[in-house]
Amino acid sequence: MKNIIRIDKKINTFKNKIEVSGDKSISIRCVLLASQALGTSKIYNLLESEDVLNALRSIKKLGIKYRKNKYFYQIHGFGLNGFNTNKKINLDAGNSGTLARLILGLLVNSKNLITLTGDKSLSNRDFSRIAEPLKVFGANIISKNKKLPIKILGTDYLRPIKYAEKLGSAQCKSAVMLAALKTPGITKIKAKKSRDHTELIFNSLNIPTKIIKKKTYDYIEVKGQYNFSGFEYKVPGDISSCSFFLVLTLLSKDSELLIRNVNVNSTRTGIITILNKMKSKIIVKNRKEYKGEIIADIFVKSRNNFSKINCPKKLNSSAIDEFLVIFLIAAKARGVSTFNDLGELNKKESPRLNIAIKFLRMIGVKVKRYKNSIKIFGNPNLNLSESYTIKNFKKDHRVVMMSCIAALTFGGSWKIHDAKSVNTSFPNFFKIIRKLGAKIN
Ligand code: S3P
Repeated sequence: MKNIIRIDKKINTFKNKIEVSGDKSISIRCVLLASQALGTSKIYNLLESEDVLNALRSIKKLGIKYRKNKYFYQIHGFGLNGFNTNKKINLDAGNSGTLARLILGLLVNSKNLITLTGDKSLSNRDFSRIAEPLKVFGANIISKNKKLPIKILGTDYLRPIKYAEKLGSAQCKSAVMLAALKTPGITKIKAKKSRDHTELIFNSLNIPTKIIKKKTYDYIEVKGQYNFSGFEYKVPGDISSCSFFLVLTLLSKDSELLIRNVNVNSTRTGIITILNKMKSKIIVKNRKEYKGEIIADIFVKSRNNFSKINCPKKLNSSAIDEFLVIFLIAAKARGVSTFNDLGELNKKESPRLNIAIKFLRMIGVKVKRYKNSIKIFGNPNLNLSESYTIKNFKKDHRVVMMSCIAALTFGGSWKIHDAKSVNTSFPNFFKIIRKLGAKIN
């Protein structure tokens, strides 16, 4: 695939069925937990994106063997003390904040100095949010400016901690839960609501965990040093990847799409709630439970009338990776939509709030910003005919995919740089979008 692509034509009407690739958050968690199991785990439908491949490469450097079979990956763990950290090791997390932060949690008992690096985008992101709690466990962490590269040297004298997670970051919560696995005693976490895949996998592995869910915070207790056996896991489709196709269909003419086998865990479905509040009529059907996750099919149809929204803050964390495409619907809605308290968006692979504002203004949509809140002045007649270039966005995969959806639905002539960055989370993106009829050169 080329790294610079051109789109000059809107997508034609389509009626189709698709499946999106495996969930990225769950894939990374499965790889890391399989590396801590006693014995062999089999992971089906593992997402084969760069972030997940970097997780596999990292556990391999730490002495864990894995093999790819036709339908599943086999990972052979040696239990909670099974990483070979007897020499100095360099790990590269590439673009993945999830991998970098979660794997640090597993290194709190490393015997030697492990250096963690990442690409340019990841090297600009904040790691103090995770270094601080891991130091309280007893790990030694060295970093300049709270950023990568980070060096971590574990301790034999881990102590359980009490931790208050206030950002709504599942990465921070999960890293602490993984560190707690290695620690004698009970680690107690009070965490602002965020995706709960780690909790659900812990439950499915019978790791002694207590969870009390309250309105804004979850209270989690993990009892450490419980060795669990190898496990099987079938990774469901990723709702974050699905979101691009939801918005593509909504904004296209007379189109329909059924997206099968998607994880609709309620900590991830903010996009459906938000778009339906804007009068989208997205239907979730055939719900089934799998290891605590809810897997379903999603049906979506074109709409030509969206209403404005005053997006409730409590939906932010369950739609955190989807706001770029949600803003495209707000751009086409009748009236002024408001999104509040989105500071965390600027802490992602690129400063997504800033980039979204720049993007919307570039396509002629009026946006007002108040600190970390924005107002988008929708235009139901939005239809583009000029030329647009998308570059300098820190190779953020979600910016590429959002730009493609805008190009295919709003019109105009587009040149999009760094298209290969979709490999970070969704290598099949272009294949699926071409299957629906998109012309991309
Ligand atoms: C993720 C959590 C979110 C999300 C990221 C994946 C995870 O980040 O943006 O893409 O798998 O735990 P934060 O936890 O930093 O909000």
